[in-house]
Amino acid sequence: MTENKRIAADTLGMEAAEMRRLGYKLVDMVVERHLHRNHEPAIQIGQPQDLLAALGGELPEYPLDADESLELLAQVALAHQQHGDHPRYFARVPGPGSFAALLGEWLGVGFNTIAASWGGGSGPATLETVVTGWLAQLLRLPTHTEGVILSGGSIANLNAFMVARHETGTGVAYLTDQTHASLKRNLQHMGLPDSHIRILPSDADYRMDMHTLRAAIAGDRQAGLMPMMVVASAGTTNTGAVDPLVEIAALCREQGLWFHVDGAYGAPAALTAQGQRYLAGMELADSLVLDPHKWLFQPYDAGVCLITRPSALERCFAMYPEYLRDAQGQAQQVVNFGNRSLELTRRSRAVKLWMSLRTYGVARFREAIQYGIELAELAEKVLHEQPDVWEVVTPAQIGIICFALRHAEPGEHARRAQTLADSGFACLTSTQLRGREVLRLCTLNPLTTETDIRETLARLAAYPLPARIV
Ligand SMILES: Cc1ncc(COP(=O)(O)O)c(C=O)c1O
Repeated sequence: MTENKRIAADTLGMEAAEMRRLGYKLVDMVVERHLHRNHEPAIQIGQPQDLLAALGGELPEYPLDADESLELLAQVALAHQQHGDHPRYFARVPGPGSFAALLGEWLGVGFNTIAASWGGGSGPATLETVVTGWLAQLLRLPTHTEGVILSGGSIANLNAFMVARHETGTGVAYLTDQTHASLKRNLQHMGLPDSHIRILPSDADYRMDMHTLRAAIAGDRQAGLMPMMVVASAGTTNTGAVDPLVEIAALCREQGLWFHVDGAYGAPAALTAQGQRYLAGMELADSLVLDPHKWLFQPYDAGVCLITRPSALERCFAMYPEYLRDAQGQAQQVVNFGNRSLELTRRSRAVKLWMSLRTYGVARFREAIQYGIELAELAEKVLHEQPDVWEVVTPAQIGIICFALRHAEPGEHARRAQTLADSGFACLTSTQLRGREVLRLCTLNPLTTETDIRETLARLAAYPLPARIV
């Protein structure tokens, strides 16, 4: 074994000067992309054989050129995706990450940050405690609220459901036909039989219907089943509708049920006065989920599970094996985040949130979220300007609007959305509301302009659509 004479910077031997050169180059590449993304396609889907030919090949036994690899990554692999931070990406739920959040993410990864135990990561654990506390405060949840930051809405909702079942015992969960599909999947994979997953028809505004909910709970009790939890949406993915949260909270209290709110995309709207009115009652939740990688300007991934019952997360997930005993701190306030979900070894997703909240301040977040709400309202106004062409199917609701062509053939909305996406100009999706195909815009990006909205709608209305434009 040879003695290392120099201080090695890189585990596998890259020289410090080369680390700096490539690192600075990478920063430049990312900033350039941010400067020019407006002129790049909002989405790009490749052909499997082309992508494999460019990115595959022989397993490299010996070094290949790192500059070339970075270029290949940027120009081919990372170019071929939905660009959720593009100003004209309106599909599904955009992900307009901010640069200060990216800095936090990079620094966290650069320090190989771990947020599993207090003994193994007291700094990152403190960041996560601070950030989940700040989020709870922003959403006006009780001061004793506790949280954990996971990979996204699907997993954060699963985490909350597991806690709910652990606290209340198993039973029937109530959802609507507008609840995000991953929530039903979560319940199924937790082992709930279909008879315990009650999908209720939503009302005319695609919200949970209180009469239907009451009747379902009463019917289940009569049939000898045990109602467990009501799953409300604070912004459905389809239309942005918010379930009647105050009424559901009261019913849950009266019936002794767990009140869960899925605010994966919509909850951050509560930072604004307009959103607060719309989301009234969300603060009464036993558990609440929000995705900072949607409307809190964070790069993927981050989904927060907040629980308002002290220590309920640990009651559900804590484990104390002998080989982790030294890592778990003894003091009263310490949190072992590996005891708040099924993740043990986990990176710190709090670094980026902490960094961006400090760098921009909440006022900037609030302003940017309000702008997203107003963009959907602007789209509604523009659609109303052409009543012969467009029908507004559901109004602008916290950044989402659904609309349809007056005279559309079956499949035409999806075809037009696809043609527009293929052109690279903008990306939006079609969806189905009670079997009717509609178009949908989700307008969360503070970089989107009025011209972007007007031009996207004009191009959608024009037929045949213009050929590829970027
Ligand atoms: C309301 C809602 N809940 C849950 C999810 C799932 O979140 P994720 O894709 O981060 O797992 C989404 C995703 O769009 C959503 O809109």
